[in-house]
Amino acid sequence: MTTDKAQLTMEALASLCKRRGFIFQSSEIYGGINGFWDYGPLGVELKRNIKESWWRAMVQNRDDIVGLDSSIIMHPRIWEASGHVKGFTDPMVDCRKCKGRWRADQLPETKCPQGGPHEYTEARLFNLMFETNVGPVKDASTVAYLRPETAQGIFAQFKNVLEVARQKVPFGIAQIGKAFRNEINPRNYTFRSREFEQMELEFFIKPGTDAEWHEYWVAERLKWYQSIGLPEGHLHRYVYPKEELAHYASACVDVMYDFPFGTQELEGIAARGNFDLSRHQEFSGKSMEYFDEETKQKFVPHVVEPSAGVDRIALALLCEAYHEEWVPTAEAAGQPPQPTEPGQPPPQGYEARTVMRFAPRAAPVKVAVFPLMKNKPELVEKARGVFDTLRRRWPAFWDVAGAIGRRYRRQDEIGTPFCITVDFQTLEDTTVTIRDRDTMKQERVAIADLPAKLAATLDAA
Ligand code: GAP
Repeated sequence: MTTDKAQLTMEALASLCKRRGFIFQSSEIYGGINGFWDYGPLGVELKRNIKESWWRAMVQNRDDIVGLDSSIIMHPRIWEASGHVKGFTDPMVDCRKCKGRWRADQLPETKCPQGGPHEYTEARLFNLMFETNVGPVKDASTVAYLRPETAQGIFAQFKNVLEVARQKVPFGIAQIGKAFRNEINPRNYTFRSREFEQMELEFFIKPGTDAEWHEYWVAERLKWYQSIGLPEGHLHRYVYPKEELAHYASACVDVMYDFPFGTQELEGIAARGNFDLSRHQEFSGKSMEYFDEETKQKFVPHVVEPSAGVDRIALALLCEAYHEEWVPTAEAAGQPPQPTEPGQPPPQGYEARTVMRFAPRAAPVKVAVFPLMKNKPELVEKARGVFDTLRRRWPAFWDVAGAIGRRYRRQDEIGTPFCITVDFQTLEDTTVTIRDRDTMKQERVAIADLPAKLAATLDAA
């Protein structure tokens, strides 16, 4: 994909996301704030679907993983133990003329707005943690941090969870929650943000079983990505060579996705040895050892950590779903869709449609219900009955405004898999039409058969 096309695609996507209420710039009425984003009515549903699907796969459908929801601000010693106070830094440089600031490895290609090339300072280390103070006094003794990852909350509660969860190693603790990093250079839309959500699993294992569990989790996680609609061909693994691994890690694989701006990380899966628990044992003075009933041995468990970003997955799903195409108008019905050529008007008998081809599991709205005409009370009443039944089971959308074709297009743009129309025939034989987003084909179905018909697609595993 060329840069121009990539640019166009991201711009078109960002425009749709704003127009249809997926993603807004945070604090837009004040000019925005760089690196922060708000999710609108559809974006919040998309993110919930991602998190629910992850939670189901990682916690609810398994016997060996339990959940946790730890606080965002924790004791500052946690971040000393984890290494974030000392080591969580990026080298950065400033331009003396325009005062711009960049990561030393990501210098801009553009000229200085003050004229000529940028005049860079020496690279300096910059800690990515957001600092705050706990309580009314602002001094060194009250400094605390917004967590830069959810993982440390899990390690810090390892012993408490172990005591109550009736689990034996190997077992895992999973957590979903906000994380904050004062990124020097937020970029690529929501991809690198300063506030984001993580879904992290710490899977505690016996020392010596690291390689097999690491391999297991890489395979599991790749399957999960496919289950929410990212095709195998757009997913890649980046296997860290030995020299790129942290000194305590024995393996790390990143799950990568082909974004329009390049192939980039969605998730890191690391075999971290017992580094984190050992450090908390050292810094807190509390034992993190586990007693193995079978072997009668004590050890500090090792861990495999699949760590994913909700916002990056949401962005990948949006990129994957976005399609523009030319489809036949009513007069040319029966003709196949044609590929869109950017910037060109559609040929005669065709019109442009933007369609978000979300997998049903990810789609924010699963089904829309329309009465054919809004000024026919008998149609509206019948359609409302269908809508009320379906909404109890799936997120549903009610729309009475405009021509039926326009209503279909509006649902295509937000990726609703099915649209149901109640028309005059419904009043005679209690059937409705059900229209498929991808094929645009319509089928007549008895109202009584609708839940089973929809469930076959919407509830498929
Ligand atoms: N506990 C390990 C850890 O936090 P990481 O690779 O730094 O590892 C894990 O982060 C995931 O969190 C990334 O793969 C990415 O999906 C997400 N993430 C990290 N920084 C992010 C940022 N600035 N904006 C959005 N997502 C981010």
